[in-house]
Amino acid sequence: SQVQDVFSDKVQKAKNMAFVFDIDGVLVHGDRLIPEGKRVLQMLNGDNQLGIKIPHIFLTNGSGKPEKARCEQLSKILQNPISTDQFIQSHTPMRALAEYYNTVLVVGGEGYRCREVAEEYGFKDIIVPNDIVAWDPSIAPYRVFTEEERATSRPRDFSKVNIEAILVFSDSRDYATDMQIIVDLLRSENGRLGTVAKDPVSQRIPIYFSQGDLLCPTEHPIPRMSQGAFRIGLEAMYKALTGVELERVVYGKPELATYKYADEVLASWMETLHGEERVPQNIYMVGDNPASDIVGGNMYGWNTCLVRTGVFQGGENDEENPANFGVFANVWEAVTAACRKEL
Ligand code: G3P
Ligand code: MG
Repeated sequence: SQVQDVFSDKVQKAKNMAFVFDIDGVLVHGDRLIPEGKRVLQMLNGDNQLGIKIPHIFLTNGSGKPEKARCEQLSKILQNPISTDQFIQSHTPMRALAEYYNTVLVVGGEGYRCREVAEEYGFKDIIVPNDIVAWDPSIAPYRVFTEEERATSRPRDFSKVNIEAILVFSDSRDYATDMQIIVDLLRSENGRLGTVAKDPVSQRIPIYFSQGDLLCPTEHPIPRMSQGAFRIGLEAMYKALTGVELERVVYGKPELATYKYADEVLASWMETLHGEERVPQNIYMVGDNPASDIVGGNMYGWNTCLVRTGVFQGGENDEENPANFGVFANVWEAVTAACRKEL
């Protein structure tokens, strides 16, 4: 019948659209739920007129915990199941680097969670800055090293180890120590601490950053500096000390590689949901940060929705990176507008 035709047409359209959600400032503020986030996920998970699941994945510049732990935490806050198969955080694509580097320095994050992340990614020999400070405290002259930190670090004779790459996974908890050790390594002969290369370029080990956000909204009224600011500081120091530019690789939004990775995740999530491994045609990115979520989505040909629950606090639209689908009060308004358009 006609009613049935209309219904199956809508089901087909629903399978041809997908949402990509930013997390901080769209669905949650830290550990605090944004209520419209829960409502949206319920609707997309099948609580809708069609009774079907509308595909969606999560693309966050967040970092610092294994994917499984973060998804469990988010599932609780949002009261909807979030699978690691639909979840990309800033360092998720860096998993691929485990194939190329054996011994790596992993920087940033709380405690030893990033060591855990790197282990989970398959890196074999993982060093964190505290391992180096425990070996030779004079490397970080102003650092006060606690007994607890000493007990949990893994010192060895780093003058006999070649560190093959530096991976900044998350925000540095101690800029002075981390910057000192990173600059030491970048200036060394092939990542050997205690050496200084004559030519700064030919023996330099590579450095990777998981994301480039300059600022991050927190409990503090003015956004705090994030990994992008740390990187710019390092680049300036390195240039001043060596006279050459630092080459580096940055992951995360709005870098192109991250969006390509998101397409792969979307296609395989489509396979899980609907048995068809393909990227839906109409993709909507919902984000709060014009300088990462929106500019990246615009460049990649996605429909972009900017919400007012996070970083963006401007007028009608962002002036530099306007959202092409529109600006919305919150994620519910954005998602329902997209569904009205597509279905
Ligand atoms: O700035 C780092 C992080 O907190 C941003 O997360 O989910 O807004 O990309 P998200
Ligand atoms: Mg955000």
